[in-house]
Amino acid sequence: MSTTIGVTGPHPSTITVGRDLGFAPIAAVLDEAVMKVLIIHARPLAARAVALAEHLRSLGYEVATADHPDAEAGKAIEVVAGLWDTCGHLQLGRKDVIIAMGGGATTDMAGFVAATWLRGVTLINVPTTLLGMVDAAVGGKTGINTSVGKNLVGSFYPADAVIADMSLLATLPRQDLAAGAAEVIKCGFIADPKILRIVGETSPEILLDPSSEQLAEITTRAITVKARVVSADLTEGGLREILNYGHTLAHAIERANDYTWRHGDAVAVGCCFAARLAQARGLLSADDVARHDQLFSRVGLPTRYGGSTLDELTHIMLSDKKVRRGILRFVLLEGIAHPATVSVDPQELAAPASQIGIRA
Ligand code: GLY
Repeated sequence: MSTTIGVTGPHPSTITVGRDLGFAPIAAVLDEAVMKVLIIHARPLAARAVALAEHLRSLGYEVATADHPDAEAGKAIEVVAGLWDTCGHLQLGRKDVIIAMGGGATTDMAGFVAATWLRGVTLINVPTTLLGMVDAAVGGKTGINTSVGKNLVGSFYPADAVIADMSLLATLPRQDLAAGAAEVIKCGFIADPKILRIVGETSPEILLDPSSEQLAEITTRAITVKARVVSADLTEGGLREILNYGHTLAHAIERANDYTWRHGDAVAVGCCFAARLAQARGLLSADDVARHDQLFSRVGLPTRYGGSTLDELTHIMLSDKKVRRGILRFVLLEGIAHPATVSVDPQELAAPASQIGIRA
């Protein structure tokens, strides 16, 4: 059983979510003009990439595989340059295909290779982490890191197809599943209260069981939220900013900790902080705030942070590439599922920060 979610807008595409999908849905999106395929994969996925390559060869395609260093180290320009060379040696043409198989770092970087090789070739994302399925692989943000920062170089280049096979999550460590669940719960708060109900009513063991119906449902719902948002605003002209709920503080926490914090953990803390900021403005009730803490902590995510002072975090937030003239921008909820982007004076941060354990 699988569900297909459509993304509309300037670059229409499809996202297939299911279990035990095998390679057929990947082969099905290769059109007649395709002759060659390059599979770019994270190193631990070598066996699966080779199996996919053999399957595609049996269908008549010329296929190469290329691995890359794990995690953020894979998002270096040297890695991209090596893959451009691989494309060249393979003579990957305009009508050919790159398949990105791995977590968010893989789809970000391989998506950038696909966007730039011959000014753009067909891209298929095969995310293998929950975070990748609900966030990085969907919506076309590709990017790499440079010595001056993360994701400062990139493009909006959506995959033509995303194949999210829940059975690939079977070996994912529980903390990584929880980190992905943070983005799922975030989608619940900004747009789909049914996600919040399912998280609230399901035991954590079932919620984080890759074979459970409940995880499949909230994953599909979160992808649907993201697909709807990027269909309306691919290039983040406005609406797409709502996906950054919890992210203003989260990015600062990640930077303050040299990216040793999982993104999802930081997003959970960031959402709990944003909820308090909204409460201070009279936009959310004490119950809404408590619901944030309950749902994130239910799957083992942090809701408090004591690792840096507010001064340090504010300094980092103010140096973010999106900050203009010292005005911080936060996505706040004007009620559950009613997000809005607002300007915030740094002085407003003190009370909500202390409530989640951040020292002045
Ligand atoms: N992760 C936020 C976005 O894709 O816009």
